[in-house]
Amino acid sequence: MKGQLGMAGLGLAALLSMGSAASAQDADKLVINGDLEMTTRAPAPEGLPFEEVISGWHFREDETQALETDDFDNPGMLMVERGQDLWNEVQGAAGKSCASCHGEAAESMKGVGAKTPFWSAEAKRPVNLELQINQCRTERMQAEPYKFDDPDQIAMVSFVRFQSRGMPVKLDLDQGDMKAWWERGKELYYTRFGQLDFSCASCHEQNAGKYLRADYLSQGQINGFPTYRLKDATLISTHNRFKGCVRDTRAEPFQPLSDEFMALEVYVAWRGTGLAVETPAVRH
Ligand code: HEC
Ligand code: HEC
Repeated sequence: MKGQLGMAGLGLAALLSMGSAASAQDADKLVINGDLEMTTRAPAPEGLPFEEVISGWHFREDETQALETDDFDNPGMLMVERGQDLWNEVQGAAGKSCASCHGEAAESMKGVGAKTPFWSAEAKRPVNLELQINQCRTERMQAEPYKFDDPDQIAMVSFVRFQSRGMPVKLDLDQGDMKAWWERGKELYYTRFGQLDFSCASCHEQNAGKYLRADYLSQGQINGFPTYRLKDATLISTHNRFKGCVRDTRAEPFQPLSDEFMALEVYVAWRGTGLAVETPAVRH
């Protein structure tokens, strides 16, 4: 998306072309390690103009898809393993590790990543894993909060979310003020930003399945986050991805973990209802 000066006057239509290879239409199934079958297509929740919600996995090249089918090939697994080590490490003045309170993550964290973001009664707002983990660090461990996108934060978030891999995304919008945050997120999703006057929907709803230059547009789902991006050779957090997409419209991105991006995360996560958590997914 760099070097597109002068694009503003062109309009989106001029930049798009139909996907001829139409890999989103393929019948491929994502099966991990030969036995974990992932739901990569699901009936769309009511209110979306799609019949189906589709994982970003379907929109990628065969070679990229293949990397996600085996944990030995998936480069994101290294960070998940690092998260496992951090889980057991004592940090902070209270002398505790995550494991001191939560025990085996495979049990205590199972399902947490599938309902994220969720209402925090303590914070009186929806939280994602970044915020919840920092809450535990500062209030329960007397440790420093992770800085946004610190590699340890990404490793811990990935490790916690990995415990829900294969489980269908399902938010609980009945808790607290979740519905108001969802509404705010929806409004942001359809707001046109920046010089290019694009909303998230311009690309990921109206034009999913078409090429924007060389890039094949997906529905912009977040069921695979943090996601390993081959281009960056690292795992990318949800809010980092949001920031990049907003910046591509030539708008000033909101801050990661701001109320705006949290509202957007609530709404975008809901748009993927029923898709399996793929963390760590692999994309180009
Ligand atoms: C001193 C005990 C304690 C420690 C240490 C601790 N937590 Fe927590 N954690 C809690 C309690 C209590 C809750 C539930 C209350 C709440 O929602 O805040 C919780 C909630 C959570 C949740 C949400 C679970 C859910 O079912 O919604 C996550 C995720 C989490 N902790 C991750 C971590 C991680 C990662 C660490 C280590 C960096 C950690 N916690 C350290 C006590 C702890
Ligand atoms: C100018 C077009 C454009 C706009 C506007 C745009 N994106 Fe994207 N987005 C892309 C492209 C291109 C990609 C990479 C290919 C793909 O997965 O669609 C992408 C990828 C993503 C992904 C990763 C999907 C995956 O499976 O890994 C997410 C999530 C996403 N966008 C969310 C958003 C959100 C939220 C907004 C609005 C704030 C937005 N995008 C606005 C072009 C756009």
